[in-house]
Amino acid sequence: MKKDYILPSLSDARKRNKELSAKLSFSLDEKYRGLGEGKTYYIVTHGCQANQRDSETMAGLLDAMGYKMAEEEKDADIILINTCAVRQGAEEKVLGEIGALKRYKKENPDMIIGIGGCMAQEEKTVNLIMEKYRQVDIIFGTHNITSLPKLIYDVLSDKKRKVEVFSKMGEIIESVPVTRFMSHKAWVNIMYGCDKFCSYCIVPYTRGKERSRDKDDIIAEVEELVRQGYKEVCLLGQNVNAYGKDLHIDYTFGNLLADVAKTNIPRIRFMTSHPWDFDDTMIEAIKNNKNIMPYIHLPIQSGNSEILRKMNRRYSREEYLALFDKLKRELPGFSFTTDIIVGFPNESDEAFEDTLSAVKHCEYDNAFTFIYSKREGTPAAAMEDAIDQKTKEERLQRLNELVAFYANKNNQRFKDQVVEVLVDGLSKRNAKVYSGYTPENKLVNFTGEGVKTGDIVKVKITQVMSFSLNGELVEE
Ligand code: 5AD
Ligand code: SF4
Repeated sequence: MKKDYILPSLSDARKRNKELSAKLSFSLDEKYRGLGEGKTYYIVTHGCQANQRDSETMAGLLDAMGYKMAEEEKDADIILINTCAVRQGAEEKVLGEIGALKRYKKENPDMIIGIGGCMAQEEKTVNLIMEKYRQVDIIFGTHNITSLPKLIYDVLSDKKRKVEVFSKMGEIIESVPVTRFMSHKAWVNIMYGCDKFCSYCIVPYTRGKERSRDKDDIIAEVEELVRQGYKEVCLLGQNVNAYGKDLHIDYTFGNLLADVAKTNIPRIRFMTSHPWDFDDTMIEAIKNNKNIMPYIHLPIQSGNSEILRKMNRRYSREEYLALFDKLKRELPGFSFTTDIIVGFPNESDEAFEDTLSAVKHCEYDNAFTFIYSKREGTPAAAMEDAIDQKTKEERLQRLNELVAFYANKNNQRFKDQVVEVLVDGLSKRNAKVYSGYTPENKLVNFTGEGVKTGDIVKVKITQVMSFSLNGELVEE
């Protein structure tokens, strides 16, 4: 059957050139303004911080069109699902969710359902949705978010399903409206895409090439956030250490950190640092600026050099540990977390033991651990893998126990200490308890009165668990 839409292509998305990415400035066409008057939308977000930030852009665009955020999904006129393709499990969850939307659509046939994010970049997903999930009206890619107003307008006009997914390297689009979901902490993109091509990872295909925003645009955004009363920014990129390289200028992530620190925003975080390019300028900037938080996420993925080579991580076990030791020495009191994949194709028992020994060496504050998930279109998907699922699950279990042990050990240093907490609000679990994070990114649940979201308060830690701390507000 002939398709009246263009499918994305992961192999096209693999292409890279050295050219400077185009910088465009967005403006909303007048004909889309007011289209959403009296109507509502609901956005479901899966995956990483980049997706969280993208959802805020989707919300910003819909707000600019006159739509309002719905309280509940079932009542919304537009539902958008921002998807994640990093692991099979995430994809299956999304497909289940899209399936469940069918009943809303039955009750309200005028409802518009849109699927965006990384899954939309995959040919197989677009095919599947177009064939089996007829309740979906719009599929839009990670490079096509600013087309949402047009896509919605077109669906409303002709009632036909729309697919707009570009498999290109991507550009930088400034001045896009944004509705931030929090009033005290903000995500700030400093760069998009990824050129690392770790062999297991789909992200370089779904998010295009590494392209950095202009430093002046980033700093102006943070300055505006300071004016609005924001307390924390998290500078976002798949690999923030590569900031500026594509611009061919003599200005690195270390320089950017130092300049963002000058805005005097109380708290600065950044995500994610690849161990590659973690240079001394960065360390100096982190050391010299008290508003850069004492927390570093440094994914190791594996502690075995042979697996790291097959993962195309560009460092050996020894190189990672040397960098880690240097950071620990230079940045005392900092907390460190990591990402680890177990069960990479043909990971031997010995290789897995190397990962455990690296965890013992680094004594991480926490680790995000995953079982390897085969991603069609990536080089690792073609690698032979004789390791059965049960072995992988057992490894994950052992790894998690070790991670919890060190998480708990690290948290002991906070017992009876007074820490500064940026308050997120009332705890999700207990309506009388507030929660927030310390500079080291430790989750704290505490009792107290007269506290508001966005306050930075002093809390005395009374109880220490592996993955959170309990405490009481200290009256000033
Ligand atoms: N399988 C399992 N985990 C993966 N990650 C990325 N790709 C895969 C995959 N195919 C993990 C990595 C990365 C984190 C965001 O997700 O550990 O750092
Ligand atoms: Fe994926 Fe590696 Fe890029 Fe991270 S650095 S997004 S793991 S390819």
